[in-house]
Amino acid sequence: MQNFLKTSDSSRAELEEIIEAAIKFKKGEIVEKILNGKSVALVFFNPSLRTRASMQVGIYELGGNAVILEPGGTSWTLEHRENVMMDSDKTEHLKEFVRVLERYFSAIGVRTFAELKDWNLERTDPILTAFQKYSSKPVINLESAMHHPCQAMADMMTIREKFGKTKKKILLTWAWHPKPLPMAVPNSFALAAAQFGHDLRIAFPKGYELDAELMAEIETQAKENSGSVEIVNRVDEAFDEREVVYAKSWGSFQHYGNANRDIREREIYRNKWIVDEAKMQRTNDAIFMHCLPVRRNVIVTDTVIDSANSVVIDEAENRLHVQKAIMARLIK
Ligand code: CP
Repeated sequence: MQNFLKTSDSSRAELEEIIEAAIKFKKGEIVEKILNGKSVALVFFNPSLRTRASMQVGIYELGGNAVILEPGGTSWTLEHRENVMMDSDKTEHLKEFVRVLERYFSAIGVRTFAELKDWNLERTDPILTAFQKYSSKPVINLESAMHHPCQAMADMMTIREKFGKTKKKILLTWAWHPKPLPMAVPNSFALAAAQFGHDLRIAFPKGYELDAELMAEIETQAKENSGSVEIVNRVDEAFDEREVVYAKSWGSFQHYGNANRDIREREIYRNKWIVDEAKMQRTNDAIFMHCLPVRRNVIVTDTVIDSANSVVIDEAENRLHVQKAIMARLIK
């Protein structure tokens, strides 16, 4: 494992080892200061609570030093495109930025969200790809346009903790939200669930399909790992017999770059595509999952998120343990 950009760059066996190590970190069974004397750069193009705090704390607990860099904020604005005349608002090229960082740091974590402007471009993860291209040190994806693998691994760890090493009936459900959001979380959750061999149902209103190439990869992974993938477009039936409910909103790539059209089209789903008690009662006593931050009574009702079946805080805690396991594997 040279980088951690998406879960499918790693084998199922490698992912299992990461989960096992994360569980040991959580139980205090690994206390080795693996990053002693080392520093890790955390590059945040976008805001964060969980990712930033859990990475900083994790690096500290491993004996290392975290340095946060915010391009356009506390560090220079960055150009990532090749062969451009930099006569506009970008001060530094990513080529120099990364090559300077690798003289100081043992690894580079990067958060760079989709801008929701140009689907054909953003689905290629151009900024994360540029980091990977220029860096000889490991790059960790802390959420890019297309993937959030650390979140997905924390989610898989949480499911493992609640149910043990068994195949679960999982629902990934789209939810109404007042504006379009990136697809990284649902993409990575679905991909990881398929790699771990779960029976995955993905529910969304027509027009909110995930990327076709990614769906093909999810289906291949499900087959190879004895899991299954099912797509449904009806919200209530989607909850039937599920043991895990994972809610997330995302934008339509058909309206990519036109947020107002997406907002108009999705209005009919307000108060319908929400996780509420009635839908949870159709499940097989499912746990409720969300990556956070979440809008209460928009994505999920207070009753569901505050219920005993809600594991959203466990997911957030597990970010810390799983990222320590990923760093220990990459950096040593
Ligand atoms: N789930 C997650 O990545 O949270 P933050 O955006 O707060 O880091």
